[in-house]
Amino acid sequence: MPKKTIADLPDLTGKKVLVRVDFNVPMDEAGNISNDRRIVGALPTLRTLLDRGAALVVMSHLGQPDGDPTSSDFRSKNARLTMDRVAVRLGEKLGRPVTKLNDVVGLQVQHAADALKPGDVLLLENVRFHPGEKAKDKDFAQQLANLADVYVNDAFGTCHRSDASMVAVPAAFKAAGKPRVVGLLVAKELEILDGLLSAPKRPMVGLLGGAKVSDKVGFIKSLLSRVDKVLIGGAMTYLFLKAQGHKIGNSFCETKAKEGQKTPVQMAQEILELGKDKIILPVDHLAVTDIKAFDSAKVVDGEIPDGLAGVDIGPKTIALYRTEIAQAATVVWNGPMGKFEDEPYSQGTRSIANALSQAHAVTVVGGGETAEAVEEFGLAEKMTHVSTGGGAFLEYVEGTPFKALAEIDDR
Ligand code: 3PG
Repeated sequence: MPKKTIADLPDLTGKKVLVRVDFNVPMDEAGNISNDRRIVGALPTLRTLLDRGAALVVMSHLGQPDGDPTSSDFRSKNARLTMDRVAVRLGEKLGRPVTKLNDVVGLQVQHAADALKPGDVLLLENVRFHPGEKAKDKDFAQQLANLADVYVNDAFGTCHRSDASMVAVPAAFKAAGKPRVVGLLVAKELEILDGLLSAPKRPMVGLLGGAKVSDKVGFIKSLLSRVDKVLIGGAMTYLFLKAQGHKIGNSFCETKAKEGQKTPVQMAQEILELGKDKIILPVDHLAVTDIKAFDSAKVVDGEIPDGLAGVDIGPKTIALYRTEIAQAATVVWNGPMGKFEDEPYSQGTRSIANALSQAHAVTVVGGGETAEAVEEFGLAEKMTHVSTGGGAFLEYVEGTPFKALAEIDDR
């Protein structure tokens, strides 16, 4: 690990530590947290710092607030993105009180930080409620840096962003001669992903699903250069099949080209050419007349006729992929195999998750939806690693350098 971690910090008794976490958790319609694995993932770091005598100022973003943070109705419009419920869940998980502040910076925040005693925990308001966060504002960053003696980045899921709390804040700590380290969650993610990228056990199999190819082109190309085989599933299947000239009926298929970019079909053709010796596509599908017509679901071999839309991989494909997984020494998985959020269409994703859980392989699951699926099936503990990163996981595997990590002190 080339970067300093919290284990490298000297005595923390009486020190104040500013911890950037990624508590950008999914919430249901009523605003309840529907999955708290990102909160749970940061607990080892927070507990270790507290056990070592520190007081904590914890900060995170939540969602993508709408509108101008300086406008008068901003808070009311984005009320569901306040950190209140996160504070409650964090307090429950930590087993100690968490004081939630209604601002990110300002006099009250500074006073609250000044008054902290060892063992105390403050949680700042959603950092995206302040315009300085997205604007990478140095004055805003300085105000945050004034709150503490040490900066800890334990927000792996946000490491691909260059927002103020990720880059300008640690830069301000550096200017003041104060340490900047990563937390245990980030250290673990980097260790596992670096191992995967530099010296994976072979054969290495990539499992790729989800709806869109255009969002993941860099990731797919990077994966193709590293793995021995790539098994495709999910709605992106139909784009690849179409690119090969097959019938896909009414299946979802990405069509829109972003300005100045190739069309999705052209992208898929390029990927198919690049991975012609490695890519395996589904040989059968679960298909329906309408996405809501669960009773119409039937297995279709080969091409998908007009009037039917694919919603999951079929049983022959499941068997084929399970065999490949059983023979692999490393499996990296990103993207569900079908529309798994609807139970009747969840068989492909569930069977593949089961196969991974039984495999004698290093199994790494990345990406929000895939991680959620594995958790929903109760199989997360059976994987070698379930990344807390969505976009960050994809970009790290793609090889994008992260400014947020460059700001952390080297060993
Ligand atoms: C994520 O969920 O991928 C991270 O929390 C980053 O969130 P963002 O895409 O809104 O920057």
